[in-house]
Amino acid sequence: MCGIVGYVGERQAAPLMLDGLKKLEYRGYDSAGLALQHQGINVIKAQGRMDILEKLVHSREHVGNVGIGHTRWATHGKPSDENSHPHCDCSGQFAVVHNGIIENYLELIDELKSSGQQFASETDTEAVPHLLSTMWQGDLLSTLMAITPKLEGSYALAVMSEKSPDELVAVRHDSPLAIGIGDDEYFVTSDIRAILEHTRDVIYLEDGQFARLTPRGVQVFNSDGQPAEVFPVHIDWDSEAIEKSGYPHFMLKEIMEQPDALRNTIAGYLAEDDEIRFPDVKLDAGEIKDISKIFLVACGTAYHAGLLGKHLFETMLGIPTETDLASEFRYRNPVLQPDHLVIVISQSGETADTLAAMRESLRRQAKVLAITNVVGSTIAREAPNVIYTKAGPETAVASTKAYITQLAALSLLACYVSRVQDNKWDKFKTLLQGLREVPHLAEQFLDKHKDSVEKIAKDGQHWRDAFFIGRGLDWAVAQEGSLKLKEISYVHAEAYAAGELKHGTLALVEEGVPVIGLATQQSLIDKTISNIKETKARGAYVIGISQFPERMTDAADVIIPLPKLPDPLMPILSVIPTQLLSYHAAVIRGCDVDKPRNLAKSVTVE
Ligand code: AGP
Repeated sequence: MCGIVGYVGERQAAPLMLDGLKKLEYRGYDSAGLALQHQGINVIKAQGRMDILEKLVHSREHVGNVGIGHTRWATHGKPSDENSHPHCDCSGQFAVVHNGIIENYLELIDELKSSGQQFASETDTEAVPHLLSTMWQGDLLSTLMAITPKLEGSYALAVMSEKSPDELVAVRHDSPLAIGIGDDEYFVTSDIRAILEHTRDVIYLEDGQFARLTPRGVQVFNSDGQPAEVFPVHIDWDSEAIEKSGYPHFMLKEIMEQPDALRNTIAGYLAEDDEIRFPDVKLDAGEIKDISKIFLVACGTAYHAGLLGKHLFETMLGIPTETDLASEFRYRNPVLQPDHLVIVISQSGETADTLAAMRESLRRQAKVLAITNVVGSTIAREAPNVIYTKAGPETAVASTKAYITQLAALSLLACYVSRVQDNKWDKFKTLLQGLREVPHLAEQFLDKHKDSVEKIAKDGQHWRDAFFIGRGLDWAVAQEGSLKLKEISYVHAEAYAAGELKHGTLALVEEGVPVIGLATQQSLIDKTISNIKETKARGAYVIGISQFPERMTDAADVIIPLPKLPDPLMPILSVIPTQLLSYHAAVIRGCDVDKPRNLAKSVTVE
């Protein structure tokens, strides 16, 4: 995720911003830059790590006690010097850094180009300084207020201008931004760990709020331009807690970030008019129309995401689809043809088995598309077609927000293929509508049920074996839930197709054995519930997960209710309680949640 640091005060801004940006490196980035106000705006920026930017800044004296800095996690436009932030207008009188996604950037840029503006980058962000320049109102904050109604999407912006050299202005819309209050110096940042060595007194801007920072102080305004009542908070985190934004573990932080990760991923590709754009997918309409078979190839959690893809591509598109574990695929002599599409899924983009499977597919002349979370990763660089999940860096070994954004990306891809193949498009319109609701419904679920799920997981202390069961997509999520529980709490867990239990495994179900029963697929719910009842009749302790809790009252000992979505999208919600159950079970068992034994975040060996 990108990082923003800005400064106004008596000290030189450059060293403070370099320091602050380095504290945001953990968030993952591919380029960095800063702008300083001194006899005009001086911008220093480059692709690559912070040490490259530091060398540039130290290569000559850079003065200025007003500045903005940024670490970029590429969403629109590949990692490059030109695409790094800050971005300026043609005159260089305005400089902007931005977190988030401006969804309507293409139309804004078209308008600006037709009025003569020249663009230097491929980013959505660069529309902002040109808007500021063309809509200048004589005052920097008023101008920022004037342009924001034209912006659609999510944005945290910090802006400086030669026209108003001793101030910074900022606005927050869906993307976090905070103001640091120092001794006669003020900071703006997307992540307070960047400034905590200078001040622990911060104001978290609310959505739609603006701020003006000058050496004389900070003013905050509501979206209507009226002064806002602000409530500075004092942060007393220790340094480790700061890394996790106050959460006890990265895994919990990343579970809680899932609504934003979904928002960024869906908004990054789905426009207001239902247009879906994948800027890094080069397959043309003819190639897409010719796809006769799809292979979804991945490892671990990414493989479980592929199970949703199979459902979507087969049942909604009618395209034969196989799912393969990458470690098996590469050695099973797969029968591939030029009209076959191999989709590799990898959070890290570095998993050896998945990389090898992709290379083997390319060697066998299949079409290849990668879904990955890391721009510039090996898989991203070698795949001819790429869809980036915009989950931001995932630090915990157990994958959560990357998985959920892989499901969103696969849903969007199925809609995209459907539109090109012009079949069953109406079915997908319902799916797209559901996708738009997903981030909010995920947020709603977490707000309402995270504590009750934690209570249920308290039992995890005593679990020895656990079963996750379901049918269809519920079985797919059961497989992901069982992996999560195994890998971080070390409880032996199995996922089972609910209809298969009676063919043997039911023998293992005895008094008190926890069974997590997923029942979200309406076409299968009756059968699923009767299978869950079979386990309960043999003494299982059943945790039911469903958007129809009323259907599970006599099948489950405790029920976790979900919001309602179309069946194909229910995995995006039903996986969340399984993540929380696994997390809290691991915590109560005293496990190393973020770094479970024997495991690595990215398995770059066979
Ligand atoms: C997920 O919780 C595990 N850490 C693991 O299964 C992981 O999903 C797998 O190693 C694939 O990693 P990738 O997505 O980075 O390729």
